[in-house]
Amino acid sequence: MTLHLPTGAPFSVAQQTWLDGFFAGLDLGRERYQGPAATLTVDVLFGSQTGNSSELADQLAAGLRAAGLGANVTELDAAGIGALTSGSSHVLIVTSTYGEGEMPDNAEMFWEELNAAEMPRLEDLSFAVLGLGDSGYDDFCQAGKDLDIRLEQLGAKRLTARVDCDVDFEDEAAEWISAAVAAVVADAPA
Ligand SMILES: Cc1cc2nc3c(=O)[nH]c(=O)nc-3n(C[C@H](O)[C@H](O)[C@H](O)COP(=O)(O)O)c2cc1C
Repeated sequence: MTLHLPTGAPFSVAQQTWLDGFFAGLDLGRERYQGPAATLTVDVLFGSQTGNSSELADQLAAGLRAAGLGANVTELDAAGIGALTSGSSHVLIVTSTYGEGEMPDNAEMFWEELNAAEMPRLEDLSFAVLGLGDSGYDDFCQAGKDLDIRLEQLGAKRLTARVDCDVDFEDEAAEWISAAVAAVVADAPA
């Protein structure tokens, strides 16, 4: 909102000119401070046992915010299937694998719900998955693979290809984060 002096304000022309400039400067400062309004808020969901995926989810959210988008970071179980079915258009998932190719503890309920017979189609949803794991296990990054395939089966649109990260995940994860942010930006309403 731009501030203006009311007509008839008791200031000389010189004073009014100075005050108009001052108010314009205030507006500019406010715009710079707040940045443009986010056009889209992305749900960043993670499944994590020891914190790696959780940290990457935070990095991903920071990348989205730096690109002018909104981002909410939530554990998969805490978000629940509602995160996919009640209005969210873009969901990015980061998950590790535990046990023998299973979901981490905080993603088990989500996975169960996602496989329920009454699960609705997700044609309006765009998604991408980053998997973390250890290639020393038989079922390398299985949780990420399962989520990625199931979301596709339900009709959701894949924004960028899944990446399966091994124990030294930093570089590959950073590349996937860049790709995922770019894909959401390209897909976001102007
Ligand atoms: C008990 C245990 C079981 C694991 N099982 C698997 C597995 O089946 N497949 C896999 O790819 N990685 C497996 N991992 C590796 C983790 O997924 C990997 O260390 C990951 O980076 C952990 O991320 P987080 O801290 O977000 O949970 C296992 C790790 C542990 C400690």
